[in-house]
Amino acid sequence: MDIAKIRADFPILSREVYGKPLVYFDNAATSQKPQCVIDKIAEMYTTVNSNVHRGVHYLSQAATDEHEAARTTVQKFINAFSPNEIVFTRGATESINLVASSFCHKFCKEGDEILITAMEHHSNIVPWQIQAEELGLKLKVAPINSEGELIIDEFEKKISANTKLIAVTHISNVLGTINPIKKLIEIAHKYNVPILIDAAQSVQHAKVDVQDLDCDFLVFSSHKVYGPTGVGVLYGKEKWLNELPPYQGGGEMISSVSFEKTTFNKLPFKFEAGTPDFVGTAALATALDYVTSIGLENIARHEDELLKYATEKMLQIPGMRIIGTAKKKSSVISFLVSDIHPYDMGTLLDKMGIAIRTGHHCAEPLMKELGIDGTARVSFAFYNTKEEIDLFLVGLKRIVSMFS
Ligand SMILES: Cc1ncc(COP(=O)(O)O)c(C=O)c1O
Repeated sequence: MDIAKIRADFPILSREVYGKPLVYFDNAATSQKPQCVIDKIAEMYTTVNSNVHRGVHYLSQAATDEHEAARTTVQKFINAFSPNEIVFTRGATESINLVASSFCHKFCKEGDEILITAMEHHSNIVPWQIQAEELGLKLKVAPINSEGELIIDEFEKKISANTKLIAVTHISNVLGTINPIKKLIEIAHKYNVPILIDAAQSVQHAKVDVQDLDCDFLVFSSHKVYGPTGVGVLYGKEKWLNELPPYQGGGEMISSVSFEKTTFNKLPFKFEAGTPDFVGTAALATALDYVTSIGLENIARHEDELLKYATEKMLQIPGMRIIGTAKKKSSVISFLVSDIHPYDMGTLLDKMGIAIRTGHHCAEPLMKELGIDGTARVSFAFYNTKEEIDLFLVGLKRIVSMFS
């Protein structure tokens, strides 16, 4: 990969912060956008802006074509069987809330169980808790080991005759752990339990093929895969989406409405109430095409190199503790150094132009499990370089010496 050429596609990467070149290592929170995505947003408003699915006029047709072409691009990106299995939402969070609400109301009764893992983001905990509270369900949690890996035997033991759904992250946003989701899906199906995969941290790093995985539901956010904010994807097998009731009511999701009774639209529109973010979906498609043009294998190879390089160098720093040492890891490194507070670490690095994340990373229960309040976290994208890691290491060493 020609990193210099790739970096030139991302205008924000050439800006300075506090007079220093920006080093952006907060990619797990959100990714930067290539010029083609920024241009697509402007192009949509400049050339086809009009409400979709409603008008007979040219612009409405053109906007609808862009929106539906984006659905097909997403379908191909994750190899879904049909575009009907792709529902556009506002983000991974809304996608999970949709499944939690619709699935639990249709299929769960008091005493039923939902199984998650100890490494879930709040987005894959709280929606289930809300349903559990309302419907009298039990939320069970599969444990992790000291490396931050899911304990597969324990995961399987947590499945009971009352388990109605399993929801698991593909990659932990804190630990970087890559879960063996194909195996987890097989286990779930051995017990006839449907499974949702939270792919918010994975579709941008490696090829995800929903037909090969055979997952029942899968979610991700556009903004983490170089697309715009405010757009998300829910993949669901058609048989499940057909059975689930609508999540929200309004325009677009109906077939016909009277004051006595409403009939709902066919898939996927049944789940897309109101005007969708057709500008965002078109720009997401541009982002996915961009990622595909670089190649997910190339992306994974480069990010793995960055992960290995940074991990080795960071471990040479006295007092360094890396949180999450799974054998299969993505390019996310959570760390603590001696007793330096992550917030101080983040603030001082920021003044050097280096953007990292600090805190509980929306995974408070995981922090409790690990016996810590929070971590500092660096997360790399394919546009990051070893030179940037060197700058970060210089900064890190300066901070460590300040505190010693
Ligand atoms: C693993 C995981 N799941 C879900 C989410 C939620 O994504 P969003 O805030 O885009 O809805 C995140 C965001 O950080 C995440 O890392």
